[in-house]
Amino acid sequence: MGVKPLLLSSLLWAASTTTATAASPSTTQNANHIFNSIHSSMRQWGSSLQHNGMSLFLASVPAGTQFYHGTSIPDPINGTEWLAFEPEHAMVFARAHMGPPPDEEDDDKKKKELRKRDEETEEEKSSGWLHTYVAAKDLRLLYADGMSAGKTRNGTLDFEDRVLFRDEVGEKEMMGDRERANMFCRMAKEEWDDRVDGLLRMEAGFEIILCDFARDLKEVRVTRTKPSYPFRGPGGGGNDDKKKKKGGPVTKGDGALWFKAIAARYDGIGGNRVTLNYDNFVSAYTYGLDLFHSVNETFTLPRLTQFTSQQLVPIREALNELVLQHEAKEATFNWQTITDMVVERYAHDIRYFASGQLSTVEDIHAKIEKVLAPFVDYGDRDGEEEAERCSMQFIPGGAFGGDGDAGVAATAVHAVTRRICETMVQGWQETDYNTLIGLFQDLMEYLAWTTWKQCSGCADHEICVVPIWPMGTVEDYNHPQCRDAAKPESEGQNYWGGRPGGPGGHHPPPSESSSSAGWIPSLVSFLRSFLGVALGLHF
Ligand SMILES: *[C@@H]1O[C@H](CO)[C@@H](O)[C@H](O)[C@H]1NC(C)=O
Ligand SMILES: *[C@@H]1O[C@H](CO)[C@@H](O)[C@H](O)[C@H]1NC(C)=O
Ligand SMILES: *[C@@H]1O[C@H](CO)[C@@H](O)[C@H](O)[C@H]1NC(C)=O
Repeated sequence: MGVKPLLLSSLLWAASTTTATAASPSTTQNANHIFNSIHSSMRQWGSSLQHNGMSLFLASVPAGTQFYHGTSIPDPINGTEWLAFEPEHAMVFARAHMGPPPDEEDDDKKKKELRKRDEETEEEKSSGWLHTYVAAKDLRLLYADGMSAGKTRNGTLDFEDRVLFRDEVGEKEMMGDRERANMFCRMAKEEWDDRVDGLLRMEAGFEIILCDFARDLKEVRVTRTKPSYPFRGPGGGGNDDKKKKKGGPVTKGDGALWFKAIAARYDGIGGNRVTLNYDNFVSAYTYGLDLFHSVNETFTLPRLTQFTSQQLVPIREALNELVLQHEAKEATFNWQTITDMVVERYAHDIRYFASGQLSTVEDIHAKIEKVLAPFVDYGDRDGEEEAERCSMQFIPGGAFGGDGDAGVAATAVHAVTRRICETMVQGWQETDYNTLIGLFQDLMEYLAWTTWKQCSGCADHEICVVPIWPMGTVEDYNHPQCRDAAKPESEGQNYWGGRPGGPGGHHPPPSESSSSAGWIPSLVSFLRSFLGVALGLHF
């Protein structure tokens, strides 16, 4: 063929181009993970699969964006509380007797609430309140990626608890969240000069811990929710008789409502409701730390448990610097849209080439040529040049110049496109069928794109089920499938380590051990953990 072979390995290339830049050599080492973090950011799908977020981004939400808060009281909230992007998410908390944990500030409110209750009918007592707000100004937030609001010990909280909260979250409060909220808002005020208004995270839906409701939101309306939404009391789906009497029946459709709302955000929060700064962000992937191994164990997802506090100091310092010196809105490139172009262009081809469906080397070469032809100078074949041209296709001019000051996102995205294009060039030169297929299988393993796990062709009443704390099974993680949104649960081992089919998490309240499998007890566990409320206080 007379093609100059591809000489430089991606590692050599990386070493020669990342010296003295904003991106460290480990940016290239973890390029695939950084690429996937950018690609999955603010998306329920990728963030559920890559649930151990290792990065923090500055985020901005435009004034006028609608938010929801579910609670047991109709009075406007003043102070720090949780806000949901989707009303269905908030409605899970819009129920009687499920207020925030009682602390002194809330005492007056509580008394008022009780007085009001005495005048209410039995039916009214069992309903809650859905508060609808709009952002009164552009909100400035910190976004912790992954499933960072999932109260698990599987790594979803590693980055928050170790880097953001500097190992200061008490062991007892681990599964609650009130301490995190208070700590965050104290840091925002005392250390960050009020440069951030809240913390943006994801669980079964995206949420914000907003530090000052009265300052940052305008109330739109407060409405009473249907009594017993989504179930009248905890244990409603279980077989604990005493609780069941109080709880009353559960309507299945309510669950469907919520899961549909979650699944609608698989591919993004939508509506430009959140803008992230991809030019400057903090990621544990860029500090030369081995996130995937402890002394004895190999993790399939990154962890931070294996490091001393001292080892994490540089990341904590970088986070301070990020908040104090940067703004969400300063970013010039939306690197997520660039990762999208890459994934959409190559995901099908790469999987096809790796699948063995093409039966001869010639067939595969012909398909590879289709991919690479735009980057070939047929008068002067040069594998190295072809790979490099191909790798630059989606990189905006100026974002990755020859001047050596590319940022983390640019460096990581380019390292990934370079790897893809190199594999195409190598594959075109490879004449052994099995070796050729193997190149693309290795590439798939390296890229680990979550889009490859997405279901296709779910019916209108179905959703593609993936574990979202506290729900889901190991099988759901390995092979997500379309399931009826009204009963998305499957049999099998709970992904998060609970009893088979039961709720996940580490401290299942004892009263729950008798409940039946499925999403309803999971919801109860979810509610309790979310609010950090001991059930006995309220029922
Ligand atoms: C919220 O609380 C602060 C501090 O207690 C108070 O100054 C402010 O007036 C309150 N705002 C509303 C709307 O209740
Ligand atoms: C590693 O494994 C050995 C043998 O099983 C054990 O004694 C040791 O405590 C383990 N070390 C860590 C850090 O887990
Ligand atoms: C999550 O953690 C629990 C408890 O450590 C464990 O049993 C479970 O297997 C973990 N799940 C995964 C997917 O690692």
